Amino acid sequence: MGSKSFLGTCFLFLVAFSLKTNAADFDIKKYGAKADGRTDDSQAINNAWRDACAAATPSTVVIAKGKYLVGPVRFGGPCKAAVSIRVEGTLQAPAEPEKLKSQDGWVVFQNVDKLSVFGGGTFDGQGKLAWSKNNCAKTGKCNSLPINIRLTGVTNSHIQHITSLNSKLFHMNVINCKHLTLEHITIDAPQESLNTDGIHIGRSSNINVTNANIKTGDDCVSIGDGSQQINVEKVICGPGHGISIGSLGRYHNEQPVEGVTVRNCTVSNTSNGVRIKTWPASPNGVASNLHFEDIIMNNVKTTPVLIDQGYCPYGQCQARLPSKVKITNVSFKNIRGTSQDPVAVKLVCSKGIPCQNVQVADINLTYNGNKGTATSECANVKPTVSGKVNPQVCAKNVA
Ligand SMILES: *[C@@H]1O[C@H](CO)[C@@H](O)[C@H](O)[C@H]1NC(C)=O
Ligand SMILES: *[C@@H]1O[C@H](CO)[C@@H](O)[C@H](O)[C@H]1NC(C)=O
Ligand SMILES: *[C@@H]1O[C@H](CO)[C@@H](O)[C@H](O)[C@H]1NC(C)=O
Ligand SMILES: *[C@@H]1O[C@H](CO)[C@@H](O)[C@H](O)[C@H]1NC(C)=O
Ligand SMILES: *[C@@H]1O[C@H](CO)[C@@H](O)[C@H](O)[C@H]1NC(C)=O
Repeated sequence: MGSKSFLGTCFLFLVAFSLKTNAADFDIKKYGAKADGRTDDSQAINNAWRDACAAATPSTVVIAKGKYLVGPVRFGGPCKAAVSIRVEGTLQAPAEPEKLKSQDGWVVFQNVDKLSVFGGGTFDGQGKLAWSKNNCAKTGKCNSLPINIRLTGVTNSHIQHITSLNSKLFHMNVINCKHLTLEHITIDAPQESLNTDGIHIGRSSNINVTNANIKTGDDCVSIGDGSQQINVEKVICGPGHGISIGSLGRYHNEQPVEGVTVRNCTVSNTSNGVRIKTWPASPNGVASNLHFEDIIMNNVKTTPVLIDQGYCPYGQCQARLPSKVKITNVSFKNIRGTSQDPVAVKLVCSKGIPCQNVQVADINLTYNGNKGTATSECANVKPTVSGKVNPQVCAKNVA
């Protein structure tokens, strides 16, 4: 082969190769998205996804810079091969809650394996109008608004470098997922916005949340029943309600929570710090191997470290019957900072089933108000205390 024809072959090869990589990009603008922030671009996204999901080789849906008004969008699988979504632009939900079906998600990822979402883009729920209509504090029913980003049945996947803004209800809901990493996620909603939990995880296993920055009006991260092997690391939380396991034991047929580690997090100006909460009068349940370590608390309003087995908001339970959720193997280690409430540590376990194997080590929580010094409150628990611990934990154990 002469060098000329060799170069020619290389050239053809390159052309073929670049055509191939282009063919794997599904740019929603080529599907008619206007990106003017006024025209509904849902159909363009749905069509681009449909083609990407049907592609036999890995493909990418491209959402370039710009503002896209979209109604509910569903990225549904199963797909033939791995699919990525590069979101550089901003997706905007309609502000009026009536335009989205309730109890559902605005952006839904469902039954997808090997999904990757990245690109620095924003999912803007435009929740302001919805929050003013949310009366769940009165009714106790909070599910009548759409969740910003729903991940259901998503496996072996990676979501990174995206922002969820002003969700109408929860920002991200992870249900029935396995082997999923959420990394460099930014969540932003005002402190006053009701039920805008940052990331909720339930009935899922092997989930990692790392490097998230969460400012919102409810729990920054909440972990519900059926969660197993969950890692929450390097989360900066606040304002918000802290990082929470539970509430558990409200419903029948809840699955065990098993293996949760919350590590290297900073919680500032929140109503709570880290907590495990279960309802009184609950069915039998299990929560075990739950570890909180290397956590900084800044100016947490009530009880930075909390186990509450009498969790009963809205007064909707028989508070006198004990919780039957069995809590075993819990540790709180290296937790320091400030509390606005003198009760900095509260471990109130069930009188029906006391907590077992609770370890407390290296706590330094100072009370920054004027009603004395920090204290602890305990019931139905005999923790193993080690290292330097301030305040003293469960010195007078009310058993
Ligand atoms: C989650 O993180 C842990 C430790 O940081 C790592 O061992 C594990 O493989 C990660 N899991 C996933 C699903 O990425
Ligand atoms: C988290 O880890 C980093 C790196 O090891 C460290 O610099 C930082 O102080 C840690 N933060 C907390 C809250 O433990
Ligand atoms: C917490 O609130 C105080 C007073 O409102 C404010 O000065 C501070 O910057 C806040 N800290 C964080 C980390 O948000
Ligand atoms: C609690 O931890 C111990 C020792 O690490 C372990 O043997 C036991 O199985 C754990 N209990 C539960 C309920 O996971
Ligand atoms: C606990 O924190 C306070 C205030 O931040 C600090 O003055 C004190 O030295 C700390 N104590 C220990 C044992 O680290």
